[in-house]
Amino acid sequence: MLLLHVVATPRTTVSATLRASDAFLQQIRTACPAAEIETLDLFSADMPAVAGQNIDSKYDLMRGRPIEPSRAAPWRTIEQLITQFQRADVCLISSPMWNFSIPYALKYYIDAIVQPGYLFAYGPDGVPAGLCGGKKLVCITSRGGDYSAGSPMQALDMQEPYLRTIFGFVGITDISFVNVQPTDLGEERRAAAIEAGIDEARRLADRVAPALQA
Ligand SMILES: Cc1cc2nc3c(=O)[nH]c(=O)nc-3n(C[C@H](O)[C@H](O)[C@H](O)COP(=O)(O)O)c2cc1C
Repeated sequence: MLLLHVVATPRTTVSATLRASDAFLQQIRTACPAAEIETLDLFSADMPAVAGQNIDSKYDLMRGRPIEPSRAAPWRTIEQLITQFQRADVCLISSPMWNFSIPYALKYYIDAIVQPGYLFAYGPDGVPAGLCGGKKLVCITSRGGDYSAGSPMQALDMQEPYLRTIFGFVGITDISFVNVQPTDLGEERRAAAIEAGIDEARRLADRVAPALQA
């Protein structure tokens, strides 16, 4: 069983997001010692181009045509990224909020992997359907401000709704969030938010663990 950890913060050791993610992973390692955990660090990975020949290939796929043999080699770098995502039984995304949404590196990853014929497919009526049913998605986020339900800032949160939309589009129905917030409104509130996030992440790991124990 495989858990893929997609890291979308460049802040490594000082990251608030990764404090909660680390607690989640620690709990998973204890509950599922045989599970494989693979990390994709988006800010240090060599990502394939979503341009040039690969963008032409994407348009081939969108029009229901096979990829031209001359463009197959660069497309394989996109396919490798897609295969890694497809293989995962559980995907953990660790992402801070940037400008009310996700960091560009995570958007780039999504633009690379969400491809027709791989993560979704067009039906005969042109309506797309997701192909990733059965996978669990856990999103651990952190935000400088507080966007929790009922707060004045809630309507500005384009991060959780976007991630729910795009991964729902590819067919994932089991999506959970831990939002660590607020991290930038004073040291005391930051420490309390991280503590609460760690507790919530551990509880969520207990719920997700059976999917990695089979
Ligand atoms: C480029 C950038 C944009 C940010 N935009 C927001 C924002 O829109 N709303 C917010 O509440 N915090 C924002 N923040 C603050 C981060 O969300 C916050 O510090 C978060 O806890 C960082 O997580 P990390 O330590 O895991 O990287 C931003 C930070 C950066 C670097």
